Amino acid sequence: MLFDTHAHYDDAQFDGDRDALLSSLPENGVGLVLNPGCDLESSRKAVSYAQAYPHVYAAVGFHPENLEGVEGTRDLAALETLARSSPRVRAIGEIGLDYYWVKDVEGRRAQAEIFRAQMRLAGRLGLPVIIHDREAHLDSLTIVEQYPKVRGVFHCYSGSVELAKRLLDLGYLLSFTGVLTYKNARKAVEVVRATPLDRLMIETDAPYMAPVPYRGKRNSSLYVYRMAEAIAEIKDLPLETVIAQTTENGKRLFGI
Ligand code: NI
Repeated sequence: MLFDTHAHYDDAQFDGDRDALLSSLPENGVGLVLNPGCDLESSRKAVSYAQAYPHVYAAVGFHPENLEGVEGTRDLAALETLARSSPRVRAIGEIGLDYYWVKDVEGRRAQAEIFRAQMRLAGRLGLPVIIHDREAHLDSLTIVEQYPKVRGVFHCYSGSVELAKRLLDLGYLLSFTGVLTYKNARKAVEVVRATPLDRLMIETDAPYMAPVPYRGKRNSSLYVYRMAEAIAEIKDLPLETVIAQTTENGKRLFGI
């Protein structure tokens, strides 16, 4: 049974077939899905899917690219209320830093402030975090180091082997998307090779990042097996072993 640990079914690209698709996942080998939120609205939708489908769980959070109009105190209180509203909420995410889109100092400072507040929230609620780190590796590491009791996953991991080792020492897991199947994925391949199997998770980040041979199409959890195949090939392990262990890792992290 596969566990897609990161998919955005609130995206409008699923408006035409969301229910049919989500309902069909278990019979297609995908027994678990975690749907993270990116703002209050998508977090609320994530919780509603988690309540409607027994194989779907939710995370709630403010993504660093979705901070426009977010007012710290008020919106974080609303997020906390939502996180406490359902036992199906199993993480705070996705949260973090994105320096690819935000270049100015003020914008980056605002990202760090909301990121830290959400790390504190995760600590208070005893929930793991799902971290988005795009071109902000050192600052992301600095912040997670400040919350040593919080555990989580660096999703769509894009850093070096050296950074990976620091994060693994802190107790974090690393998760990989379709990027792992692209021809230029040399760095991600090295990280997978250097990371123990019991610290890896797989995800689609649907509807984006579709793996080869579906690249360019709308992604969905139906394609998450491709990341298991890629890890099996890189680590020269049986596919069934990779599927079972990555699912186990996700269940352990998210308390399922
Ligand atoms: Ni995502």
